[in-house]
Amino acid sequence: MRERVREILAREQAGGEVEVRGWLRTARHAKGRSFLEVSDGSCFAGLQAVVEPEIANFEAVRGLRNGCAVVVAGELVASPGGEQRFELQATRVEIVGEVGDDYALQKKRHSFEFLREIAHLRPRTNTIGAVLRVRNAASRAIHDFFQERGFLYLHSPVITASDAEGAGELFRVTTLDPGDPPRDASGAVDHGEDFFGRQAFLTVSGQLEAEIAALALTDVYTFGPTFRAENSHTSRHLAEFWMVEPEMAFCELDGDVEVAEAFLKAVIGAVLEACPDDMAFFEKRIAPGVIETLEHVVETPFERLTYSEAVEILQRSGRDFEFPVEWGVDLQSEHERYLAEEHIGRPVVVTDYPAAIKAFYMYLNDDERTVRAMDVLVPKVGEIIGGSQREHRLDVLTRRIQAAGLDLAEYWWYLDLRRHGSVPHAGFGLGFERLVQFVTGVANIREAIPFPRVPGYADF
Ligand code: 4AD
Ligand code: MG
Repeated sequence: MRERVREILAREQAGGEVEVRGWLRTARHAKGRSFLEVSDGSCFAGLQAVVEPEIANFEAVRGLRNGCAVVVAGELVASPGGEQRFELQATRVEIVGEVGDDYALQKKRHSFEFLREIAHLRPRTNTIGAVLRVRNAASRAIHDFFQERGFLYLHSPVITASDAEGAGELFRVTTLDPGDPPRDASGAVDHGEDFFGRQAFLTVSGQLEAEIAALALTDVYTFGPTFRAENSHTSRHLAEFWMVEPEMAFCELDGDVEVAEAFLKAVIGAVLEACPDDMAFFEKRIAPGVIETLEHVVETPFERLTYSEAVEILQRSGRDFEFPVEWGVDLQSEHERYLAEEHIGRPVVVTDYPAAIKAFYMYLNDDERTVRAMDVLVPKVGEIIGGSQREHRLDVLTRRIQAAGLDLAEYWWYLDLRRHGSVPHAGFGLGFERLVQFVTGVANIREAIPFPRVPGYADF
């Protein structure tokens, strides 16, 4: 019988023999008895075991420290302390794994920077344990949301030949010897000799492949890792992050915005319900006010603005932004946060951005200056979702690819889809770690993923 701490603490009443396995979050050795808090990661709380001298290996128990792995069996009794409903009156303590003197996770508070250097141990901390449970609950809610609406889960490739965003932020995938690559007659590296017989990259987005599937299966979504070789040292950027990308055929920008709003509300609502203890911790220790912010997001309609309206608001704000605003510039994080955090006070959907600052695949409006793009901006994080109606008209798309300076030949199949059974379609991408950052309130996105990859760092 293997029971988790979560299930034990959820029991109706005390009584009966239980056995827990886990790691000691704390070990307190008082006069005549020891208190061991055993955590197995199944929930925020650990289960306190009280160990008395009758236990055969009591002397060994007295030497236990936080981090030790144990199996504790005993009687589940009502906890007199009141902090928890139950505790364990130990009848057996099996010491499975001791900790050395150099165990890096001490009981004191460590900085998040330090914890990243010991990413092999940081899931044992309150914060990262809670983040991992929130990630898990959010992942499940994402699948639930789409599955309930009849979307098909598409596995888009990790290795790809196309630059989905056309921004050139690709990591190369090659097996050529960097010191001595084969060269063609002109002296350039000969990728014909490479593993795939051509240049290949880690994907920046599954969108283009999701479009392929949507133009056959109507509503699809991807949920997978994406990679960006952008040299951004910010609290919102990772070189490897997970993205959720729905793509819907027979759908235009308004339908896209509706799904994005319903989606964020559903996922956030589900996490609040699934992880109350973890959220209480974030509220108390990481980001006071976060729960109210999230409840507000779930309950109130998102605001909608066009890019042009957003620019006017920013110009009239009287704010001294680091990056001055005029029509045509891309919105920076400070602008996004001003709009969502201060001006509106809840999520804002900004639509119809200038064509020149957005990707080649976005549907060109009749004004020929703007595209049917939409970004969802939230307080603290800024852009959490980026999406658009796609350009499904062959002539316009051809023009846009050329105007972006991209090679038409590379996008032959993307253009071919516009020749055969092309329909209006739309989709968006949610940065999963930005969502986790928003929900947990952690200041840096590096705390929202178990193993952050950022410029200059890919350990573990
Ligand atoms: O706005 P982006 O670049 O849009 C796309 O990739 C589209 N292909 C999505 C689509 O329409 N299917 O990225 C989408 C989202 C952003 O809004 C942001 O939340 C997240 O992905 N994102 C990042 N998250 C962490 N680190 C980075 N470097 C990110 N770049 C984008
Ligand atoms: Mg974007």
